[in-house]
Amino acid sequence: MFKELNILDEKNKTLRKISKEVSLPLSSEDRKTIQKIIKQLTYSQIPEYEEKYHLRPGMGLAFPQLGMLKRIIVIVHEYEDGKFKNYVVVNPKIISHSEEIIALETGEGCLSVNRDVEGHVPRYARATITGFNPDGEKIKLRVREELAVAFQHEIDHLNGILFYDHIDKNHPFFSENEIRLI
Ligand code: NI
Repeated sequence: MFKELNILDEKNKTLRKISKEVSLPLSSEDRKTIQKIIKQLTYSQIPEYEEKYHLRPGMGLAFPQLGMLKRIIVIVHEYEDGKFKNYVVVNPKIISHSEEIIALETGEGCLSVNRDVEGHVPRYARATITGFNPDGEKIKLRVREELAVAFQHEIDHLNGILFYDHIDKNHPFFSENEIRLI
């Protein structure tokens, strides 16, 4: 049985609010929500299931996108063809980052934004993230490239920021000499 999550659309003002820190360990309710998110994000990246359940592909989701203003993010990263690694970080923080800036060449997307938004979103190429796992154990991750972009995108959601807020309307596209496009 697979039941699709109810993801808020960008017009919903909840997405513009600041989420609250969560006390640990997580409740069983929150853990169940995390499992549902992992399942949907994974399915959405497997062509067979994506088609079967009409899912929009996505690699990350933050709790506020489900209407819950809690600082919890989930990322399902396809690090190799058909192989996924799940990241669940509670109360995440970026404690350091590279000076180098990158952007996804084709721009970013978001499961709460049901339209194409053109433009490059500048992100740190590398970042160190700290936070907690659902059991309340401290974790520290070093992320780079696409995964670094995903973490920054999801952490933004906890602060009411959507990816297109970072797109410069007067200069939406960068050249390769300005930032590295991936
Ligand atoms: Ni998003």
